Amino acid sequence: MSSITQEISPLPEANPAPVFAPEQLVWSADEAALIERFKGQYPTAEGAVMKVLWLAQEKFGWLPPEVIQFVAGTLGISYAQAYGVATFYTMYFKEPRGKYVFDVCTCFTCQVCGGYDALHYLEEKLGVHAGETTADGLFTIQEAECLGACGSAPMLQITNEEYVHNLTPEKMDRMIDALRAGQEPVFESVTLPQDEDEMGGNRRTDAPAFERYVVSPVSTTLE
Ligand code: FES
Repeated sequence: MSSITQEISPLPEANPAPVFAPEQLVWSADEAALIERFKGQYPTAEGAVMKVLWLAQEKFGWLPPEVIQFVAGTLGISYAQAYGVATFYTMYFKEPRGKYVFDVCTCFTCQVCGGYDALHYLEEKLGVHAGETTADGLFTIQEAECLGACGSAPMLQITNEEYVHNLTPEKMDRMIDALRAGQEPVFESVTLPQDEDEMGGNRRTDAPAFERYVVSPVSTTLE
């Protein structure tokens, strides 16, 4: 009989000791007002769960269970509802993360274009595996599902913000060197097919109509 050995990841601690004390789990007046605005944008308060989880992550840095509970209590929804959303999306950090989080897309298109090559290159270069943080606290690597930039695969996202397209080892080297030096990455526009002349330069002119949702007419990339 053949035996199959498989590495089993340990389950997270069901009831970890809280990181934040109850007196820390309060919104400022400005945050409370913002949450009321968020709630007003949806038919029910639970519709605002993603925005309030995001606000909580910006405030606390990550989302331990007591912060997720805090968000749930704020919106009057169950812990399970908020937890389900927080654990579904990689953009919500359920553990402390490094200063820079590399979400390396290994979904289908990126995968066939070398997404795993990019991931393993970063793992070797930084000496950590996906899901881990470097000892200096600077970099965390994560695997991510499709980030909607399949046209410039393989790609990664830096800490839920900038996209880095068409990854190569040289480009990742420059990215890491720049971030280590405390430099803002220098981005260069990438023209997508819909921007070509024959498409009439489809520039997503609807985008600026959304508050706090500013999209440049073309994608940006680190070069
Ligand atoms: Fe990677 Fe879509 S598969 S961005």
